[in-house]
Amino acid sequence: MIAIGSDHAAFALKKEIEKYLEEKGLEYKDYGCFSEERTDYPIYGELVGKAVASGECEKGILLCGTGVGISLAANKVRGVRAVVCSDCYTAKLSKEHNNTNILAMGSRVVGVDLAKMILDTWLGATFQGERHQRRIDMIHEIENRNINF
Ligand code: RB5
Repeated sequence: MIAIGSDHAAFALKKEIEKYLEEKGLEYKDYGCFSEERTDYPIYGELVGKAVASGECEKGILLCGTGVGISLAANKVRGVRAVVCSDCYTAKLSKEHNNTNILAMGSRVVGVDLAKMILDTWLGATFQGERHQRRIDMIHEIENRNINF
């Protein structure tokens, strides 16, 4: 199950991506928003971040105007590794080396076709483990060392 969320700026892109997931036979759960009425991206970053970090969903897709704000919000949830992508190379390497569990994109940055291509690249890439796992563990140790201020 893929968790998906967006703010108002990326609502239309989210609908396109959902249609694409349906065509591909991939299940998703939409965590909002549900219209183009102005809202705040941290809400959806946290909801999708929690869904992924808790294991309720295997991975997530987050969309806002740039992909930046919503990915920053998601990355505050312990266990989330969200990447903002506007190119396929970053999407591929972010999975192979960083085992990203959330893909963020910006509706004001990428067109619909590029967003689909980036998504395909990210979904199709495989984490390479080994030395990369050690570095990911180091990232999560940073989370654990910095919880009291
Ligand atoms: C909303 O105007 C915009 O700030 C938001 O979608 C996003 O780009 C923030 O990072």
